Amino acid sequence: MKKKVLGALLSVAMVATLLVGCGGNDAAPATTEAPAAEAPAADAAAPADTAATGSGKKVGVAMPTQSSERWINDGANMKAQLEALGYEVDLQYAEDDVQMQVSQIENMIASGVNCLVIASIDSGALVNVEAQAKEAGIPIIAYDRLLMDTDAVSYYATFDNKGVGTAIGKYIEEKKDLANTSETFTIEFFMGSPDDNNAHMLYDGLMEVLQPYLDNGTLICKSGRTSFDDTCILRWSQETAQQNCENYLTGFYADEDLDICATAFDGFAYGCKAALEGAGYTEANWPLITGQDAELMATKNIISGKQTMSIYKDTRLLAEKCVTMVQAVLEGAEPEINDTEQYDNGKIVVPSYLCTPVAVDKDNYEEIIVEGGYYTAEQLAE
Ligand code: BGC
Repeated sequence: MKKKVLGALLSVAMVATLLVGCGGNDAAPATTEAPAAEAPAADAAAPADTAATGSGKKVGVAMPTQSSERWINDGANMKAQLEALGYEVDLQYAEDDVQMQVSQIENMIASGVNCLVIASIDSGALVNVEAQAKEAGIPIIAYDRLLMDTDAVSYYATFDNKGVGTAIGKYIEEKKDLANTSETFTIEFFMGSPDDNNAHMLYDGLMEVLQPYLDNGTLICKSGRTSFDDTCILRWSQETAQQNCENYLTGFYADEDLDICATAFDGFAYGCKAALEGAGYTEANWPLITGQDAELMATKNIISGKQTMSIYKDTRLLAEKCVTMVQAVLEGAEPEINDTEQYDNGKIVVPSYLCTPVAVDKDNYEEIIVEGGYYTAEQLAE
């Protein structure tokens, strides 16, 4: 951190050659440090006040990737909860390969599923296969990520995605006391995939809080990269985040420390951590690093001080809400909806249920994550 004196005047143009932006690294899936085996146990409990009515019906669940722990939890929770209600489940992961996901959904349709639950890789790339499902009379529920440009989707279960960004922004604002401080802080941004509507909403929520501090000079982004287009990372790639962070550190932070890594995903936080360690950062000058998902490894990093916070999203709750939507379209039940305005996919406004994201850090992880039964103290101590 520095006193408010020097403006960061390094050439913005040079960074374009240093950085891999949204368009780069198309094929590389994000990887995480957390092996699948360490994921929390799936919650097999059926949602409250529902009867086991699913017998004979089959639900296709299309998930984006197993390279990130959260989706492994999502898939496991969905499968367990649907099976507890008597549904047959075809759970598929597409390893961030858009064409593979299209083929998986086509196969699900051909195999006669009664309902599709889709967490997309590229939310606009499934329009044709969604139309096929509609023609075959198969309802679709969008899971966590909105399905764009289609009228074939019935409901959407997600977290308050703008709220995720706002929570990250407010955390930074509070921890650095941005509203009152006379200091300035350097910051760099690592935003989500441009083909994921959630990434745009997160950015909007984050900037609603932080833009005033960039405008008044309390926050200084030395790379000059603050727009969504300049900071988004295709397919949420951890490697690209690390590469971008390395390039920022080399290009702009030779003489001054980077104080804040505002990242939209735990995988990005791992990438920043690796870049910072490589650049010789230690406990003495370690920046504030944000994340999303409260993955097991991220939570361990929070405990050890290598990540400052994450956004806890209880995937058990999300699965529970999504299952009520499956029941609604298959059994005529009423799903709980709490948003009928925000999620316009370009064709229709999709009735949605938004779960509440919660910021977790060293001070509250025990209460929220351990006492909430998401990870055990033993898992975190391993
Ligand atoms: C989800 C996030 C997740 C990200 C990367 C987003 O669509 O909402 O929770 O961190 O994808 O997998």
